[in-house]
Amino acid sequence: MTDRLTIRRPDDWHVHLRDGAMLTAVAQHTARQFARAIVMPNLTPPVTDLAAAAAYRERIMAALGEGADFTPLMTCYLTDGADAGMIAEGYAAGLFAACKLYPAHATTNSAHGVTDIRRLTTVLETLQRIGMPLLIHGEVTDRSIDIFDREAVFVERVLTPLTRDYPALKIVLEHITTAEAAAFVAEAAHPIAATITPQHLLINRNAIFDGGLRPHAYCLPVAKRESHRLAVRRAAVSGSPRFFLGTDSAPHVVGAKESGCGCAGIFNAPYALEAYLRVFDEEGALDRFEGFAAEHGARFYGLPLNGGTVTLVRAPVTVPDRIGTGETAVVPFMAGETIGWRLDV
Ligand code: DOR
Ligand code: ZN
Repeated sequence: MTDRLTIRRPDDWHVHLRDGAMLTAVAQHTARQFARAIVMPNLTPPVTDLAAAAAYRERIMAALGEGADFTPLMTCYLTDGADAGMIAEGYAAGLFAACKLYPAHATTNSAHGVTDIRRLTTVLETLQRIGMPLLIHGEVTDRSIDIFDREAVFVERVLTPLTRDYPALKIVLEHITTAEAAAFVAEAAHPIAATITPQHLLINRNAIFDGGLRPHAYCLPVAKRESHRLAVRRAAVSGSPRFFLGTDSAPHVVGAKESGCGCAGIFNAPYALEAYLRVFDEEGALDRFEGFAAEHGARFYGLPLNGGTVTLVRAPVTVPDRIGTGETAVVPFMAGETIGWRLDV
């Protein structure tokens, strides 16, 4: 049995680092494990221009303190009025790594998102031309569509025509949760990839209703039935370069989760690598972990692989019930559970 695994330093291709006190509280958890992270732009107000992205990047580095060995990769939040020229300038300058498409009202802070993808023609043509990735929250917002079907319907109604209309557009379908999304990404004759979160590998939708309503198991896209979890697992451990690590760590203060209208988001940053590794271990795929965590994403984005390594050791680690206090008190993913791996730092 392998009891120690050393891999190239990994990256997190999807994280919410928040702002203010929460940023200061959570950023260190991501920087402790990952060399780089794609930082989501859904702040209030959202990060829609160069000045906002540059200022946010500064705040992230300030939160980490002097000498932090971590690179935040900034993203531009797309609105109906997104300016293709500004986006191209930000990409050329190395400020923006990608654009994020939230369908309006699909999730947390998406009110300024895109109401109709057809409004983005110029932006999409530009992204395709310059090779800049489009990151997609892939759920339709049509209220007549069941919440558990919104991703599969998005694949059919939006993603399929999008890949047809923009055959060279680099797309990352974020946080996939369904067999339909996994199959589409695996098989498309298109430059498309997907991120996969730890929660969608480890829980199915029963977790949200396990003996009572469980707000800490609620995120968007919402966890699906078991057959989908298994399909997403197979994709993650398949070795396909189209699937890679993106935690979607999304902290909300405990009171905003444990509420009459609890926010969507699971805070998994503190034990993310351990949680993923548990899955690869259970699937007998430890040899595929490095590709998923440290190689596939960078190659898809066209970025260099990281130098350096991290080591994980087989050892029981119990996730605390709560991390932080006051306005930064958050319940982490797998709170109170014991994971069989520990990051050795
Ligand atoms: O659960 C989620 N939380 N899904 C998202 O898409 C956004 C995120 C957040 O920002 O809280
Ligand atoms: Zn997210």
